[in-house]
Amino acid sequence: IHNVVFPTSEEGSICVAQEIASLIRTKQTENKHCVLGLATGSSPIKVYEELVRMHQQEGLTFSNVITFNLDEYYPMDKSSVHSYHYFMHQHLFDHIDINPENIHIPSGTVSAEELHQYCIDYDLKIKEYGGLDFQLLGIGRTGHIGFNEPGSHYNSGTRSITLDHITREDAAPSFLGINNVPKKAITMGIGTVKKAKRIVLLAWGHNKASIVKETIEGEITSEVPATYLQEHANTTFILNEEASQDLT
Ligand code: F6R
Repeated sequence: IHNVVFPTSEEGSICVAQEIASLIRTKQTENKHCVLGLATGSSPIKVYEELVRMHQQEGLTFSNVITFNLDEYYPMDKSSVHSYHYFMHQHLFDHIDINPENIHIPSGTVSAEELHQYCIDYDLKIKEYGGLDFQLLGIGRTGHIGFNEPGSHYNSGTRSITLDHITREDAAPSFLGINNVPKKAITMGIGTVKKAKRIVLLAWGHNKASIVKETIEGEITSEVPATYLQEHANTTFILNEEASQDLT
């Protein structure tokens, strides 16, 4: 894992948006799709804001972009303000020229009977597009990437998972109480993420400093699933000074 520290999250986010934009443009000159793996949560908001700005002011087009989101709560209605479907449209998709058919977000409404096959098909679809060219990640205090909580297997695929209590606590304020936070989610697997050609993880703020340290400097363990990124040859952590303060 290579890490780059910026004075502020704004500067780090702009740098990441520029990398994504330049990848999209390179693929356009080659007449190819650009397959992006996307994250929700607070960490990538400024990256999406900058991509929207580049679309509106600099003519960046998303016509060749295919997206796969990492995760969605389960069960969860698309129309709910708590859904990652809602989040992605609010922060990115409603403001750019992506073809709606090219957007993939795990569905929080598949039936229990269909769930297993649905997850297998999600990974298959990524493969059919030639794999993820770029995967954007945040990191949870449990060391989760996507919703791969402690105990996740390094080779796991997209599947349903039980959320860790700490993850549900962190989500509680926006759900107005932990009892309203779903107990489950659908998430891309560690194996799904690790097949991406390029991975960029964002972490901002003091409350991420200790998990960032464990992830970069600790032993590889399923107890901190993000440590599996140490085995990936092209991963960069983009940090602000606060998130990097515990690194040796
Ligand atoms: C979101 C996701 C999660 C978040 C992580 C950090 O799609 O997969 O792993 O990236 O929980 O969340 P924030 O950015 O809100 O601190």
